[in-house]
Amino acid sequence: MVTKRNLAMTTAMLSLCWCGALAAKVTASADGRVMRLDGGGVTYALGVDDKGYVQPLYWGAALDANAPLVAKSPAELSGFDPAGSITPQEYAGQGEGLVSEPGIKTIFADGNRDLVLKYRRHTVSGETLSVELADISRPLSVTLRYTIDPATGVIARTASVRNGDKAPVRIDQIAAATFTLPVGDDYRLRYLTGRHGAEWSQVDAPVTPALTVLESRRGSTGHGNQPWFAIGQDGRTSETDGPVWYGALGWSGSFRLTVGADNLGRVRIGGGYNPYDFSWSLKPGETLTTPIFYAGYAAKGMGDASRRFHAFQRAAIIPGGARAKLRPVLYNSWEATTFNVTEAGQMALAEKAARMGVERFVVDDGWFGARDDDKAGLGDWTVNPRKFPNGLKPLIDRVKALGMDFGLWVEPEMVNPNSDLYRAHPDWVLHFPDRPRTEGRNQLLLNLARTDVRDHILGWLDKLVRDNDIAFLKWDYNRNWTEAGWPQVAVEDQQRVQVDYVRNLYYILSELRRRHPGLEIEGCSGGGGRIDLGIMALTDQSWTSDNTDPYDRLTIQDGFTQAYAPSIMMAWVTDSPNWANGRQTSLDYRFLSAMQGSLGIGANLDHMQEADIATAARWIAAYKTIRDTVQRGDLYRIAPPRADRATSATFYVSPDRKQAVLFQMLHSSMFRDNGAALRPQGLDPARRYRVRMLDGAALPDGVPGEASGAYWMERGLRAKLKGDFQGAAFLFDAAP
Ligand code: DGJ
Repeated sequence: MVTKRNLAMTTAMLSLCWCGALAAKVTASADGRVMRLDGGGVTYALGVDDKGYVQPLYWGAALDANAPLVAKSPAELSGFDPAGSITPQEYAGQGEGLVSEPGIKTIFADGNRDLVLKYRRHTVSGETLSVELADISRPLSVTLRYTIDPATGVIARTASVRNGDKAPVRIDQIAAATFTLPVGDDYRLRYLTGRHGAEWSQVDAPVTPALTVLESRRGSTGHGNQPWFAIGQDGRTSETDGPVWYGALGWSGSFRLTVGADNLGRVRIGGGYNPYDFSWSLKPGETLTTPIFYAGYAAKGMGDASRRFHAFQRAAIIPGGARAKLRPVLYNSWEATTFNVTEAGQMALAEKAARMGVERFVVDDGWFGARDDDKAGLGDWTVNPRKFPNGLKPLIDRVKALGMDFGLWVEPEMVNPNSDLYRAHPDWVLHFPDRPRTEGRNQLLLNLARTDVRDHILGWLDKLVRDNDIAFLKWDYNRNWTEAGWPQVAVEDQQRVQVDYVRNLYYILSELRRRHPGLEIEGCSGGGGRIDLGIMALTDQSWTSDNTDPYDRLTIQDGFTQAYAPSIMMAWVTDSPNWANGRQTSLDYRFLSAMQGSLGIGANLDHMQEADIATAARWIAAYKTIRDTVQRGDLYRIAPPRADRATSATFYVSPDRKQAVLFQMLHSSMFRDNGAALRPQGLDPARRYRVRMLDGAALPDGVPGEASGAYWMERGLRAKLKGDFQGAAFLFDAAP
């Protein structure tokens, strides 16, 4: 099962760790009353009180081994606040008058809805702590599992519920983890929200007793709220300083995260399957395991939190870990040709792409079935003979002869009603009998929870990749769920579709990767509609947004990188004026925006003049000299893009701190632009760095060619940009 596989993978990564001598410590006190995870400068502790409740004891900066951590049972506060309901439980059952969000909510076959979980036993096995809780009388147990990353302090948690009874138990809600922060009225929550073409907007809001719910009811992660949070403290936490507790659920289906203060002011955070359309009839002897909830603590502000999380994702989540290949510069035909793909047209684009230095050529939508627009063809994954009379081979051969590898767009989970597949298998889609089947972009969702559907999809994908020299798939997904019925199984099992669909999606992706070890996959959902740590473990990169306007992208990228690593953040240079908003920008500006992630080209190369192709070739060559730093380095948000600020800036520093690059982006000049210097962070203060402009232009007046890291970080630097939508990049190289 994927959750176990991911947990095992995480644990394996921790023990093979890229972080050398660092070690995580998972310990329990001699009396078994205190359990601790220590790593990456972080301590997480839980303990058992004298009534047997497991309580959260501490989560923050590393504590000494003898720290006096003790779980104490609170006394009843009032008739309205009995002891059980105010005990800060590590993972509470819905029972005994609990008035805050439970970890798990159950109904037993006899109608009992009271579940009180107390400590039964714990084990430390390798680097995994397992804590088993059990109901006070019924044979139902919940095992909480924990690991901690020795380098970053990121904790990975799951919960597994086991029914030891003789009758099924209905699970109505189950969190992967719940977390508790100390009492305080000064917490602030940062979260990400948005919509198609406008993903990754940041919201900062106070944490109050009014529960904040971040959720998707879409069947997938969605363009709306991300399953990610970061909590700081008013007056203490900034981009560069103060405590931050952060985390993200690794799940690509409907999810729910909740954040709120309980009636005593303790902040509680929970996350798991979204209970809005979830129930699981847990059969006798059966176990249900949640996805993984990853969470961490950072002492040095929001920047520290995201750098730790990026490092963790690169090492432990993204396929290949430290050995993952750098993202190649790709060309994608979508914005150039939409559905009008032909062998000759794609070959012409490929010639130009190769001359620019592109390394991967990707044919997007329109190559298969009767796919001339979005009304037909999905489901019929055979090459369209009118567009490619000789199959894909001549194009692939040409692409390879030009020195690039070949990628292809697919949308395997979808079907157009106007397709041979749907005509043959109308029962394969999510639906309720005798009810409407609502279409989105003229398509319906195949029910991946069905094993025959799962096997069909895996079968044609496997054959497609086996029969053609395909290095890369762009895996798209272009609608939300509606009428999520699975009428072929027993009524009490039908809502398993919410889980089984996603598990089978993960199965197909991991099996495809296993059968084709070199194959790389880009996750895409109408832009950034399905990005999370679950799908991240099975894809090499993500399509960030269909909004390719280079100025909008700066805000989108700033939001994306709050949570996720820049290496998987695909960013294309496309045409100007941009399709999304008509904004006109120079090719230089478009490159400088897109080079802050993993670079792609999506422009119509047939519209480019020779001079533009030469400019593009120069920027692509320059990107190749810094991509290691951009993709594997530390990101410092020097000046985030904001509507009230003319200038934004990001700074990327290589892991060995020998190279760095500063991107300065101007929205529009005002008042002769006497802006303050941009002050880099993260350089080695004692080392000397040579600085030059990435495009080879002369340094601005007053910027020395060489100085110490301390000088650059204290004095800063700035290009004197004039006009609107201008950019510059400074390259820092450690002097030998
Ligand atoms: C949505 C994606 O986000 C686009 O990049 C493109 O692949 C289209 N789908 C194709 O239909």
